[in-house]
Amino acid sequence: MNFELLKPRVLEIVSKSISVDERLLNICELLETNVDYYNWVGFYFKNGDKDELKLGPYVGKPTDHVIIPFGKGICGQVAVSNENFVVPDVKAQDNYIACSITVKAEIVIPIFVNGKNIGQIDIDSNTPNPFTEADERFLEFVCTQVEKLLE
Ligand code: SME
Repeated sequence: MNFELLKPRVLEIVSKSISVDERLLNICELLETNVDYYNWVGFYFKNGDKDELKLGPYVGKPTDHVIIPFGKGICGQVAVSNENFVVPDVKAQDNYIACSITVKAEIVIPIFVNGKNIGQIDIDSNTPNPFTEADERFLEFVCTQVEKLLE
């Protein structure tokens, strides 16, 4: 997928006159539909003042992991590290929360508002080792647009 073609479509969604959650869901749908190795796409956000993440809009199989404590799983680790986490092979991770046996790889990119890590985009792939730096740069772009929505 040419990510450059998806960027204007992300901008278009962000500027729509619909609720923030609807726009976030539209972004999940755009990504899941257009990138064949993005098989579950969702947002997690810090749950109030608790040290845990709460599932936001997502596309893909329903997950039991609606609440994830900080530090747990790939998502919980990104909540405290403030850094991208690219997992080429989920089986090689000790601190991993499995959502579906079909998932082979995962990428999580944090979202910052006023310098604070307030959430993340989480993508699961059924393809082994599918993510490159192009995915990281594109998803950082997506998160920067989402940041503007949440300010
Ligand atoms: N695999 C994640 C949990 C969330 S699901 O992928 C939807 C993790 O280890 O944090």
